[in-house]
Amino acid sequence: MSYLKSPLNYTGSKHKLLKQIEPLFPKDIDTFVDLFAGGCNVGVNASAKRIIANDIDENIIELYRYFKENKADKITKDIEKIIIKYKLSNTSKYGYEKYNTTSSIGVGKYNKRFYEKLRADYNKNPSPLMFYTTLLFAFNNQIRFNSKGEFNTPVNKRDFNKNIKKNLELFVDKLNILDITFTSQDFNDIKISQDSFVYIDPPYLITQATYNENNGWNEDKELQLLHYIDALDARGIKFALSNVFENKGRVHELLIKWSQKYKVHKLEHNYHN
Ligand SMILES: C[S@@+](CC[C@H](N)C(=O)[O-])C[C@H]1O[C@@H](n2cnc3c(N)ncnc32)[C@H](O)[C@@H]1O
Repeated sequence: MSYLKSPLNYTGSKHKLLKQIEPLFPKDIDTFVDLFAGGCNVGVNASAKRIIANDIDENIIELYRYFKENKADKITKDIEKIIIKYKLSNTSKYGYEKYNTTSSIGVGKYNKRFYEKLRADYNKNPSPLMFYTTLLFAFNNQIRFNSKGEFNTPVNKRDFNKNIKKNLELFVDKLNILDITFTSQDFNDIKISQDSFVYIDPPYLITQATYNENNGWNEDKELQLLHYIDALDARGIKFALSNVFENKGRVHELLIKWSQKYKVHKLEHNYHN
């Protein structure tokens, strides 16, 4: 079984782990809730009658809605128009020589000035299309906003290459046909219907990610989530939680203790990807 890969190169993506995670899910799911959708790697690959994908980050949710409402070739053409307008590199068309560089060095130096103009224009006049194009040329495709709410990731080494274009096309094609709804709320505000299976992939308290910064996730949130899950379980609603028990010498005792009442599957992996 091969799984679609999100066109957002998302920190904490479960794409590589799906072959271990997905077989653990129930077989006949009515409503699949991806409560912390992130790159939407899990939601887009779920087999269910309907899917709800939620994330607190409104920018990515708006982007998925835009992907769902448009055809892949239109989106790709619109991205390419922006690339031409801002004079950004197009290595899949012209190779690296045109930009006086190599694949290992990348196009960061060439694109820096053009990318900064694109990013400034996106910040002045945000839209899902400008957000995604900016993200494509942003360092490691990382989503980072400063305290003024401006997108401020520096330039990337890579551009809109063949792999990401293919991932984008397949992802958009799938969203076009799926019964999938996108919501952007704190998980506490998501009401779960009785026919749901809930996949829960929150930020991890003991690891680093941009969405953990600025108190984005803390012990209080972690406790709220564990209560929220216990309340689902008390209603007989099935769920799966991904998390980390141990990282760089830190042990998450609270989570280990809490999880003892549930079934735990240890996965083989490097969770950063
Ligand atoms: C580990 S990532 C999910 C990765 C995803 N499963 C994938 O495969 O791409 C965790 C996500 O939780 C989101 N998040 C953080 N706090 C949240 C909250 N209070 N409610 C809902 N989502 C939240 C973050 O924006 C981030 O996208």
